[in-house]
Amino acid sequence: MLKNKKLAVIGVGKLGEALISGLLKKDAISASDICGTVGHEESLKRIKERLNIEATLDNQKAVKDRDLVLLAVKPQNMDSVLKEIAPVVTKNHLIISVAASVTTGFVEERLPQGVPVVRAMPNTPSVMNVGMAGMCTGTSATDEHKKMAEAIFKCVGETVFVDESLMDGVTALSASGPAYLYVVIESLAEAGVKLGIPRDVSTLLAAQTMLGSAKMILDSKAHPALLKDMVTTPAGCTIDGLMELEEGKLRVTLIKAVVKAAERARELVNTQNTKSKL
Ligand SMILES: NC(=O)c1ccc[n+]([C@@H]2O[C@H](COP(=O)([O-])OP(=O)(O)OC[C@H]3O[C@@H](n4cnc5c(N)ncnc54)[C@H](OP(=O)(O)O)[C@@H]3O)[C@@H](O)[C@H]2O)c1
Repeated sequence: MLKNKKLAVIGVGKLGEALISGLLKKDAISASDICGTVGHEESLKRIKERLNIEATLDNQKAVKDRDLVLLAVKPQNMDSVLKEIAPVVTKNHLIISVAASVTTGFVEERLPQGVPVVRAMPNTPSVMNVGMAGMCTGTSATDEHKKMAEAIFKCVGETVFVDESLMDGVTALSASGPAYLYVVIESLAEAGVKLGIPRDVSTLLAAQTMLGSAKMILDSKAHPALLKDMVTTPAGCTIDGLMELEEGKLRVTLIKAVVKAAERARELVNTQNTKSKL
């Protein structure tokens, strides 16, 4: 689907580099069809060496005559970058933004009318090709555009399209989620240490258990509660552990954490969009 497409990545930082690496590893696009931009001269050498792609500081040059434009600069740079590239963007481009809290409306307002826009919210495990990207479309993106944008993020993990009103929830759940789960893994590992297991062994036990449990849910499509019941022998030790988790309010704490992060994401969307009108 992406073969022979020409891609510009505006802002080849951590995420931009992870996405380009994923595309190259899957041989989805050839390096010669990718042009990346950065903000500073000294970053050019880094991307040329690490990715072997064309690199420039000139965003307009990178965007001209491209099919796909991936915007991966920080949210606070989006306004100036969009205004800069607007004169060379046409309806033949597909614009894909990964900037947190920047709506498709924000992007569309700064580009010529009718330009297709897709917004994506990936997460850091994309670096290991096990990412999760929630995605939504702007007013002019067609099914073909959706498929094209999806093909990019499929190279580094799973994708799902949602209504844009749910993107704050996606941000709070799957983009912030790794941080919550690292805390869970760290805590389980600490428990192992408390029980005398060396820290490295303990961390391996905890992390592989997290990975395996996630795979069980994804592969079997079973409800997590059903899988939990399968581990919980009557009068065994797991039920005692579960009772401690209930007493410590693990469930409600996780729910509240995600809800709180979504509220913050919503605040950032409003700040971003208010700033844009100033
Ligand atoms: N990291 C994540 O896990 C993640 C997840 C979801 C979404 N996102 C979104 O992805 C975007 C990038 O995040 P990141 O973590 O990859 O940030 P990052 O590592 O700081 O990368 C930003 C890149 O943008 C470049 N840049 C700055 N100004 C520019 C300009 N005017 N023109 C072209 N390039 C410019 C920077 O180049 P210099 O270094 O040379 O200044 C840098 O390479 C953000 O909007 C973030 O919300 C990130």
